[in-house]
Amino acid sequence: MSLPSPWRTDFPALAALEAEGQTYLDSAATSQKPQAVLDALLGYYVSGAANVHRAQHLPGERATRAFEATRSKVAQWLNAASPAQILFTRGTTEAINLLAYGLETQFHPGEQIVVSALEHHANLLPWQQLAQRRGLELLILPLSADGSIDLDQAAQLIGPRCRLLAVSQLSNVLGRWQPLPELLALAKARGALTLVDGAQGAVHGRHDVPALGCDFYVFSSHKLYGPDGVGVLYGRDEALQRLQHWQFGGEMVQVADYHGATFRPAPLGFEAGTPAIAAVIGLGAALDYLASLDPAAIAGHEAALHAKLLAGLAARDGIRLLGEPQVALASFSVEGVHSADLAHLLSEQGIAVRAGHHCAMPLLKSLGLSGAIRVSLGLYNDSSDLERFFSALDQALELLR
Ligand SMILES: Cc1ncc(COP(=O)(O)O)c(C=O)c1O
Repeated sequence: MSLPSPWRTDFPALAALEAEGQTYLDSAATSQKPQAVLDALLGYYVSGAANVHRAQHLPGERATRAFEATRSKVAQWLNAASPAQILFTRGTTEAINLLAYGLETQFHPGEQIVVSALEHHANLLPWQQLAQRRGLELLILPLSADGSIDLDQAAQLIGPRCRLLAVSQLSNVLGRWQPLPELLALAKARGALTLVDGAQGAVHGRHDVPALGCDFYVFSSHKLYGPDGVGVLYGRDEALQRLQHWQFGGEMVQVADYHGATFRPAPLGFEAGTPAIAAVIGLGAALDYLASLDPAAIAGHEAALHAKLLAGLAARDGIRLLGEPQVALASFSVEGVHSADLAHLLSEQGIAVRAGHHCAMPLLKSLGLSGAIRVSLGLYNDSSDLERFFSALDQALELLR
């Protein structure tokens, strides 16, 4: 059955890639951008670039208005109580590093930070480093066979010394939604802070983040059809008030003299220096674009493609699917075949998939693998992309076996 994407033509890169013989199946790494986002980026530059929050001239006021409009759009998108709860960062990675520095003095030796076995390095290494700096214990929540965090073991492990629970909403390797309500409830019962890494989850449907009940939620614009170079840190008011400032410079300061300074509260107090103005404006355009689409139609299209992807993988011998993915993504290994060799042969046939450890080396190791192939789909993919993928896969496997 043919599954065309009604949104494919909104993304000029798809036609450009196709003309080059490329099939893009790596949207979980980064997404292509709709024309509306490209127009917003260009529009900011051609109408006159200007710095935000400091100039009183017209271009400066225009840039500031557009920049702050995105903050409001993000707040609305997440159902946050106020735009002041939205901090712009360079991406998910920087947002989590901000937290690991900003919360440093909240932790005391012997206390615990709890993460899970499926975390991306971005939600593991900053906590590992903080644990080393402060003499903390880092606990790892184990997984069930389907790729979700094991709740029984979590209930055992999240104890009175837990000060922070930091978990992914959706694994970038296993593609499974994590049982956040239960996990967050366990951490909150211990009085711990909670962080949800929404880097993969944010693009799959709209999330009412305050209803989720976490203290902090982070995501990257570039995985949500927006530009790269900008990410979001949402925080509850009381949680944001616990952050100490971490980067110092222009615009984050209230008053400064040669010997000391006082700093602004969130959000501007955590946005030192000139931000990624065009990218932030582009993120606003991406949210407008997504808000103009029917979410049920996107979910239906992606689910149909995903079923086709899983069926195609299951129909081939020796393929091991990792976990039980619930979104349009599948990671797999092939018996007797090195993932780098397979990725190379796929790439030679114009198939762009991700190969390797997916920035989750400990997870891959725990699965007994040094690497895997990941196919991930965006709303612009269609069944012809999957047909090209499977035909290339069959040829590659014939060569390798
Ligand atoms: C689950 C998860 N967390 C964090 C990140 C890091 O995102 P970024 O590289 O945009 O900072 C990624 C990126 O792949 C991810 O998949």
